[in-house]
Amino acid sequence: MTQSDRRRSQETATSQGEDTETATESAPSLFDKCHQFFDESGDYAKTKDADLYPYFRPIERNEGTSAIMNGREIIMAGSNNYLGLTADPRVKEAARDAVAKYGTGCTGSRFLNGTLDLHLRLEERLADFMGKDEAVLFSTGYMTNEGVIQAIAGRNDIIFSDKDNHACIVQGTKISLADTQRYRHNDLEHLEKLLRRAQQDRPDAGKLIATDGVFSMSGKIARVPELLDLAQQYDAALMLDDAHAIGVIGPSGRGSASTFGRSDEVDIITGTFSKSFSSLGGFAVGDHDVIEFIRHEASAHIFSASMPPANTATVLKCLDILEEEPERLERLWEISDYMRDGFRNLGFDVWDSETPIIPVVIGDMNTCFQFWRDLLDNGVFVNAVVPPAVPPGQTLMRTSYMATHSNEELDQILDAFHKVGKQHGVIGSNGHSVSEHHANGHARNSRSSAENVNSPATGHMNGSASGHSAAA
Ligand SMILES: Cc1ncc(COP(=O)(O)O)c(C=O)c1O
Repeated sequence: MTQSDRRRSQETATSQGEDTETATESAPSLFDKCHQFFDESGDYAKTKDADLYPYFRPIERNEGTSAIMNGREIIMAGSNNYLGLTADPRVKEAARDAVAKYGTGCTGSRFLNGTLDLHLRLEERLADFMGKDEAVLFSTGYMTNEGVIQAIAGRNDIIFSDKDNHACIVQGTKISLADTQRYRHNDLEHLEKLLRRAQQDRPDAGKLIATDGVFSMSGKIARVPELLDLAQQYDAALMLDDAHAIGVIGPSGRGSASTFGRSDEVDIITGTFSKSFSSLGGFAVGDHDVIEFIRHEASAHIFSASMPPANTATVLKCLDILEEEPERLERLWEISDYMRDGFRNLGFDVWDSETPIIPVVIGDMNTCFQFWRDLLDNGVFVNAVVPPAVPPGQTLMRTSYMATHSNEELDQILDAFHKVGKQHGVIGSNGHSVSEHHANGHARNSRSSAENVNSPATGHMNGSASGHSAAA
């Protein structure tokens, strides 16, 4: 009898006035929390009943910037498909060819029967792309960060971890035997205080600073130059999780440190294939000995099956396209600047996002779920983010963009936000109307055409897209 069966029979017994003692006795208390999760007064039941539950919504068809949900076409403004390559015919063909040649799965870990020549080719290509000695693949980005930290940070070491790091870094610190010290988000004075104390108290401890290169909720870039200076001053290694940076920022999309021209100084850079590279998997790059050690010591690498052929071939093809079509990145930056300014001109708070991740602050939880639902009804899908991922009262619509979004789609997204934002009082009714901007045209495909644009939302484009290039 499953737990749900037991519960149902318990409910039936109660409704029939039977003695529930025996039924309750057979239900292990371990599962009390599971049943409480569905309590009528809880957030889950309330949002489900009101059809406002924003998670696990099935997509019935996916074309990249548009998709079918619940039989209706929506504009996708909530995916991490930054280069827009998931639906690219060349990428699909590469995946199909790999299945034809290698089959659908590797059925074993890299360590044993699961290494393909494709894996080696991809590792070489990534090491080259990132300007490092070696690369090692993992089957997800999550496993990459978890595995790298578990492998390199041991009992005598100390990890310094940004408080806003992704859950997989946190998980890595939990399973490693090292002492973990968390510093306040982006607060490098706090980090330095911890490093100084560690240097005094435990001078022989190995030290690792671990941070997201781009923070996944705020779209903010880590302060890489200062982090490197601190790492060098206190004899610590620096690890950057560039899940939202590789294929997005820096010259040719080489990530957060390359934005500052300092990739060669970073000890370990990790990335994922589930975002710009339209696939599934992850990797770490660094010096030869460090990466070879991780290859042999990371449990997530040794004890789990390797990346399937289609996923591996997809990433190789995406790397080709990234290198051959630099205009994709320019378009992505242009779109990001355009959307950030568009939201700000409408009166929304988008924090200090610097990348294609643009959070739009909504406020309390109820408004957040209703706002999300109203956007969906207006044909726009975004991600609703609630505490603990964000501070209480700072719920977000996490929006994110692809190089393939059309100008029309971008305007439809802004229009929907304008309408729903006014409806919920998140913006004042006197915010700029997006439709005023339509007349001027904007978010062109090339910078030269963008230079002709003269609307409140896009006047900035003359400078800011090239500002990114300068930073890159
Ligand atoms: C910063 C960051 N690191 C790692 C991951 C995990 O990547 P993957 O989806 O490949 O497991 C994510 C995924 O959302 C992420 O945002």
